[in-house]
Amino acid sequence: MRKKLLLGNWKMNKTVLEAKSFAKLTAPIVKMASSAGILVGVAPTYLSLDAVKSNSSGLIVAAQNCHYEDHGAFTGEVSIPMLKELGIDWVIIGHSERRQYDNETDEKCNKKIQKLLANNMTVVYCVGETLKEFEEGLTKEVVERQLRVGLKDLNSEQLRNVVVAYEPVWSIGTGKNASEEIAEDVCAFVRNIVKSMYGAVSEELLVLYGGSVKPENIAGYLSQADVDGALVGGASLKIESFEAMVKALI
Ligand code: PGA
Repeated sequence: MRKKLLLGNWKMNKTVLEAKSFAKLTAPIVKMASSAGILVGVAPTYLSLDAVKSNSSGLIVAAQNCHYEDHGAFTGEVSIPMLKELGIDWVIIGHSERRQYDNETDEKCNKKIQKLLANNMTVVYCVGETLKEFEEGLTKEVVERQLRVGLKDLNSEQLRNVVVAYEPVWSIGTGKNASEEIAEDVCAFVRNIVKSMYGAVSEELLVLYGGSVKPENIAGYLSQADVDGALVGGASLKIESFEAMVKALI
């Protein structure tokens, strides 16, 4: 049986103090979730990772990105050893906003994923098509390419530390949800592609849906056979809706 995972992606929101106040309120939510077998976490900005990690207990704390080199002349970047020193062992890779604004390619994602997995970190790899690609019926072609390139040259054992998040770009922050059927269809497709690449470990792979998920619709997505969790932006910012999403899954 695969666990469920609710991961909040805070993007460029919350100051350190705001992040810390949120973290301090998470203990009962984490407890409630873990007794129901649900993993919960948030991905704050780099600046707030330490504050969230040290003011919460049992909450997964993920970085929103990292560099693939350990150190060097890469202004503005943060490396894996820097994250590890803070006790951070989850990282989101390839979010569509980074693909769109920061030239994050599938190849670059693969370099980061290889390095993270070699460091025993857990990767949440984001895939998903743009509105234009969706309208042109290219969803599966795009998602397959992102998976085959982004996850290439790994071994099946390493796949145990990979989570894939399917996030149609047209549904992120727009309030335009993909239907439960689309979410299931593409998440099942993700599992199949991973199966063709790495075999039976694909049955253990957590596949998340993301894009305008909120307390009112999360249970519907999670009731789908191949949707194991959600990557949530806007609705993860307030402790009340974060808690309401956990409750909706119990
Ligand atoms: P949203 O963002 O929930 O605000 O649509 C999701 C994401 O970008 O991960």
